[in-house]
Amino acid sequence: MKIFLDTANVNEIKEGLSWGLVDGVTTNPSLIEKEKGANFKDIVKKILEATPGPVSIEVVATDFDGMIKQAHKIRELGSNAVVKIPMTIDGLRAIRKLSEENIPVNCTLVFSPIQALFAAKAGAKYVSPFVGRLDDIAEDGMQLIEQIKTIFMNYDIETEILVASIRNPVHVVRAALIGADVATLPFEVLKKLPQHPKTDEGLSKFLADWKKLFPDGNFPL
Ligand code: G3P
Repeated sequence: MKIFLDTANVNEIKEGLSWGLVDGVTTNPSLIEKEKGANFKDIVKKILEATPGPVSIEVVATDFDGMIKQAHKIRELGSNAVVKIPMTIDGLRAIRKLSEENIPVNCTLVFSPIQALFAAKAGAKYVSPFVGRLDDIAEDGMQLIEQIKTIFMNYDIETEILVASIRNPVHVVRAALIGADVATLPFEVLKKLPQHPKTDEGLSKFLADWKKLFPDGNFPL
């Protein structure tokens, strides 16, 4: 499973990349807004330059022509730019047009299995089901991922399932067990994933025992 970072913060992206764990980046207008004061074009260019993998940048037009214009502007900024298009009727038309132009699209704000199927039929490279926001309204977000996975397997659909709106490590484990293609994580969730209290406890014990043997901390090789 590929790991993307769900952020518009270049420092987080550089840090995640230095750990060798980040395969790509996803942004959205709310994440861009968090980088208060920064110039939108500058942020996007910096993220695209810093990231070797795909970077999703979202259009904010809601009509077909506007989405296509903004998509072309986004693509001009880098060959790793993926255009994020919302799941609407105009969005589906835009996904079809852009995929015919070989522009990769991430269809966002997906909340039902049929929305995912339609985005795939329109030619989206990725579909982004929002699991956390379904959990927020007492639905099971990960059940949606299972349903989309089954549908895509039934029809040999190549569109990648990009699990979005991840809030905790359990979402990530379930995404991997289901066989989702990508999990996009806030930096705070990424940081938690390699940690385990038994790892910390075990390491402290090893180091304490070593100090009994070599009180000055030597490693005599
Ligand atoms: O990038 C879209 C998605 O990951 C948003 O997450 O936490 O705002 O629901 P969240």
